Amino acid sequence: MTAVDEIKSRIHIEELANEIPTVKLRKSGKNYTGFCPFHENKRTPAFVVFPDSGTWRCFGACNEGGDIFKFVMKRDGCDFSQALKTLAVKAGVELEPLTPQRKEEDAHLDRIRQLLEESVLLYQHHLTRNPAGKPALDYLIKRGLTAETIASFGLGYAPAGWDTLMAHFTGRGYTIDELKEAGLVSENPEKERVYDRFRNRIMIPIRDTQGRMAGFGARILDPNDVPKFLNSPQTSLFDKGRLLFGMDHARRAIREKDQAVIVEGYLDVIILHQAGFTNTVSPMGTALTEDQLRQLQRLTRKIILALDADAAGAKATMRGLEIARQSLDHGDEMVFDARGLLHEESRLRADLRVTAIPEGMDPDEVVLRSPGEWESILKNAKPIVQHVMDTMAAASDLSDPKEKDALARKIIPLIEDLASPIERDTYRSRLAVLLRVNEESLMQLQGGDSVRQKPTARRRQKPSRREIPGVSEIKNPLRPLENHCLRLLMFKPDLFLALESELKNSKFEPLSVDDFQSAEAQEAFLLLMEAINQQEASVNDFLIDHQPETLTEFLRQINAGVNLEGTPDERIYDDLFDTITRLRLVHIREAIDSIRFLVTELAGWEKNQIDERESLLEYNKKMTELTGERLRLEKALQPEINFQ
Ligand code: UTP
Ligand code: MN
Repeated sequence: MTAVDEIKSRIHIEELANEIPTVKLRKSGKNYTGFCPFHENKRTPAFVVFPDSGTWRCFGACNEGGDIFKFVMKRDGCDFSQALKTLAVKAGVELEPLTPQRKEEDAHLDRIRQLLEESVLLYQHHLTRNPAGKPALDYLIKRGLTAETIASFGLGYAPAGWDTLMAHFTGRGYTIDELKEAGLVSENPEKERVYDRFRNRIMIPIRDTQGRMAGFGARILDPNDVPKFLNSPQTSLFDKGRLLFGMDHARRAIREKDQAVIVEGYLDVIILHQAGFTNTVSPMGTALTEDQLRQLQRLTRKIILALDADAAGAKATMRGLEIARQSLDHGDEMVFDARGLLHEESRLRADLRVTAIPEGMDPDEVVLRSPGEWESILKNAKPIVQHVMDTMAAASDLSDPKEKDALARKIIPLIEDLASPIERDTYRSRLAVLLRVNEESLMQLQGGDSVRQKPTARRRQKPSRREIPGVSEIKNPLRPLENHCLRLLMFKPDLFLALESELKNSKFEPLSVDDFQSAEAQEAFLLLMEAINQQEASVNDFLIDHQPETLTEFLRQINAGVNLEGTPDERIYDDLFDTITRLRLVHIREAIDSIRFLVTELAGWEKNQIDERESLLEYNKKMTELTGERLRLEKALQPEINFQ
């Protein structure tokens, strides 16, 4: 038994859920129902716990579920490995002891973090106690920061000298190599001289999600200096593509408000937090990465991108919405590309919206002028397609048929990309209204390649399902299906594209992390997606290089499952499609049963606690959707049933 299984067998989901007093579980049938701890509504029971499979699901606003690990990840806003640690302690299970080599590495990183922590103190000292830091402090105050904010974000000042910091820390026993690794010193190209990287700058500590030091963003004081912001170099701790500035302060608020706001600048984040908008973060001056979006998505589905007016508007170009900025710091481009964002949105099942900040202003200026104005800017956030449509329309002359045509051709591909047929329909109508043309002519414009493509002629000739091993050993009936699906995908990652397009053509949702319930399977799926979407290495090499220790055993088990060597691609693909369909059918049947229970339950709760009518309507709607989807899934499996 792996540590994960051991923990699962010792901690019961119903007990874990009941530790949150507002959940109030009640037995209904063999399951439990209660109030979801992860979304605001406390009046309608929408939370179901399935003791048999050790899983939970919210059928209300969250519409999410998983096992005990996923529960802790949601509850604490942490990642899988953190949840594993938390629950291991609770269950009294010892996790694999760290290898001596890992221990050494960890100790080393801790020392670098310690060095960074001490440099925060040093820079703070120079800001508040050294007369040379006075102009920096004055500047921050002029920008509207209070003393508390300056302290709580640990802002500091790096003096102008070339070796202030170096002298201080070598005097305290740190080596030059350690200073280099922390990104605190630089070296000239000839490597003959080492000097303080940050000089005469305002220092902004950047911490990881858990609040551990990672590096610094450093702003100029002298307007003639370049670059305006100098960040720590890419180091083992400072990974620009993963860090989000403000995340350590924002995590809780993002979960509570069920919304995350992304702005562009460090100072914007700080001032927005000061004004009470504590669910705000920013990237590190580089492109927003999938990893960053995923970190946010673990806390909330609702993510707002607050972009400055000219980036969000005037530059809405060929690729839809595109914001490019040359960051002098590293030469990277900062790009939000509408198509890319839509892709992420659907894959992560996020609700991404865009809002524009008034011309010529930054969020910090807006909120200092009027918090209410910032509030309404957030309220005005629009879905990506809508945003692109509106901004492009505003920039075109819609009385000119050629411009109309050009605009339609740019927007239609975005609409076609949407996973939901309902959204596609809605935007198509909106576009037709906007352009004052009929929908027919828009349909005629639709790109030949992706849309007209018929579902592949391939049909399941014969049941391709093979024995799924170990069904009886495992409690959760979904698990073999989840694992099998991962096994097939890992064996032939190339099939993923075909799968995506068949799902889309058959108007099914794309495969997503929500198709999996066990936290390990979810993690493995996300890792696999990362592997598929990168170009640096083969999928397999990437998986080997990037798998976290916490997944090693799970992945080993999966690969040890069935020998697929020599099976024709066709059959693997059929197996994959069927496995996913079956997995979804199990989910849906379970959901239908649960909603029946929840509806019965509604009657059992005290009248004043619930908004019975509204909830019933909501559940009825959901039921109709689910039964429709069930039918479609069953049909997708039909040919096989006929053969049997
Ligand atoms: P801005 O130039 O918009 O600065 O860069 P800002 O945040 O509004 O700063 P103030 O208000 O002038 O003080 C936005 C973000 O882009 C990154 C930083 O993260 C910055 O916060 N950036 C900018 C760099 O990394 N390097 C640069 O040279 C410039
Ligand atoms: Mn600014």
